[in-house]
Amino acid sequence: MNIKLLNKELGEVLSDVTVVFLKKDELEECEHADILQKAGFKAEQDTTCFLYEKATLFCGVDSKKSDDIRSAASCMMKMLKSSNYKSAKISVISKSTITALVEGVVLGGYEFNEYKSEPKKAALEEISLAVNDFSFDDIETIFNEALIVAHATNFTRDVVNRAPQEINPQTLAHVAQTLAYDNSLLCNILQEDDLAKENMGAMLAVGRASVHGSALIHLAYKPANPKKVITLVGKGLTYDSGGLSLKAPTSMVTMKMDKAGACAVLGIIKAVSELKLDIEIHAFIGAVENMVGGNAYKPDDVLVSRSKTTIEVRNTDAEGRLVLADVLDYAQDKVKADYIFDFATLTGACMIALGQYTTGLMGHSHKLKHDISRAGSDAGEMISSLPFNRHLKKLLKSEIADISNTASKPYGGAITAGMFLDKFIRDENKNKWMHFDIAGTAYTETPWDCNVYGATGAGVRLMCEFLRDIK
Ligand code: BES
Ligand code: ZN
Ligand code: ZN
Repeated sequence: MNIKLLNKELGEVLSDVTVVFLKKDELEECEHADILQKAGFKAEQDTTCFLYEKATLFCGVDSKKSDDIRSAASCMMKMLKSSNYKSAKISVISKSTITALVEGVVLGGYEFNEYKSEPKKAALEEISLAVNDFSFDDIETIFNEALIVAHATNFTRDVVNRAPQEINPQTLAHVAQTLAYDNSLLCNILQEDDLAKENMGAMLAVGRASVHGSALIHLAYKPANPKKVITLVGKGLTYDSGGLSLKAPTSMVTMKMDKAGACAVLGIIKAVSELKLDIEIHAFIGAVENMVGGNAYKPDDVLVSRSKTTIEVRNTDAEGRLVLADVLDYAQDKVKADYIFDFATLTGACMIALGQYTTGLMGHSHKLKHDISRAGSDAGEMISSLPFNRHLKKLLKSEIADISNTASKPYGGAITAGMFLDKFIRDENKNKWMHFDIAGTAYTETPWDCNVYGATGAGVRLMCEFLRDIK
C-alpha cells in the first residue's frame, strides 16, 4: 500500500473513494446530512459510515486534534481494507495533524501475515493526502519524517511478531547486522565466550539452559558533529518461559514479546539514522532465551554480575533485570553518554499499576521525566512516572548476597524492578538514566488506537520525538 502527498485541491485528485473526517457539530451542514442521519451515523469518535453510492467514507472524530485523527484514520484503514476499492483520498486538515494521519494509515493499516499460507489480499493500493497550501514544502518534510518513523515502528513490530522458533538470540543478532549493513551503522556482536571474558555472570546465567547462545549486540550511528550522545539499552528475551520458576501456561503465551525492548531500540536507531539526526546513538541489546534444563540457573543461585555486585536469585522469571544489569554496566564502560535509556518488557506489575496503554517511566531526574512525558504526549504514546522511594528499595535486600532479584513483597513490583536496575547505574549517570517499562504497551491482543493485534512498536515514536527536539 502506497501513501502519497499531493500539492492539489481534493477535487483535483483522482481516487475511488473520498474520506471525510467529521465532528458531531459538522454533521448538520454536511452535504449528505440526510442520508447519514438515516444511516444512524452520529459522527462519534472511531465510528464510520460508508456511503457506497456516493463513494464517500465518513469517519467520526471528537476533535481535529492529533490523537483523534490518528485513531480515526486507523478505523478508516480497517474499512477501506475490507472494501474492494483501490484508492482513497483525504484532505489534510492542518499541518499539525499530518503526522497523525500518516500514523493512522501506516500503523493502523499494518498487518503481520508472514505465517498465513493464504493471506487475505486487500484491494487497496493507494491513499492520497491532498494539501493545497503555500507551505507545501514544510508539510512535505513533516510527511516524509512521519513516514520514516512509522515505517521504523512497523519494522519493530515485524521483528517482535516473528515466532520464537525463528527469532532466537543468534537470529536477532543477524537482524541487527542486516540493519547495520542497510543503514551504514557500526555493529559489534559479543558471543558467549566474549561475555565470559567480560564477567557477565548475570546475563550468562539466564541464557544457560537455552540451546541458542546469548549475544550482546552493539550498534552505533555516528554522525560527523553530534549534538549529544545517547545510549539505548534493550531487553532482548527472545523467549521468556520463566525458567525453573516456570510461568503458568496462559502467562507463557505471548512471551515472544519479551524481546520488544530490543526491537524498539533497533527501530529507534533505524529511524534516527534515516532522519539523519545530529545525534550519536549507541544501541546495546541483551539477546537471551530464558529456558529450563539440567543446566538452568536456579532459585537460590548467587550470581556475580559484571559490576561485581552479587545477586541472589529468588525467582528465575525475574530474568530481564539480570540481563539488563550486565548490559547497562557494559554500556556505561563503553560509551560516555549524555543520556541512557533502557526499554524493557520488565514486569507484569507495571501493567497492574498503569494498565495496558501506558508505559511506566522510572528514574531520578525530574527534568528528564518532564521532557520525556512531553515527547510522549506529542508523539501520542502515553507514559506515566512511577516514583522510586527508599521504603520499596529495602525490599530488595538479600541476607546472603548484595541484592535479591525479587522484592520480598509483591506490591510496587514495577518500581522495585526499576530500583534493582538503579543499583547498576553509576553515580555520575544517575540523572542521565531513564527506565521504560513497556510490558503493557509493547503488545496487544485487542486493537486500540493505531495498534492492531500483536506488537505495537511502543517506544519508537516517543523516542524519535524526544531525540528530534534535543538541544
Ligand atoms: N517478561 C516478564 C514481564 C512481563 C509480564 C512482560 C507480562 C509482559 C507481560 C518478566 O520477565 C517477568 O516475568 N517478571 C515477573 C517478575 C516477578 C517474578 C518478580 C512478573 O512480572 O511476574
Ligand atoms: Zn520473566
Ligand atoms: Zn521477561
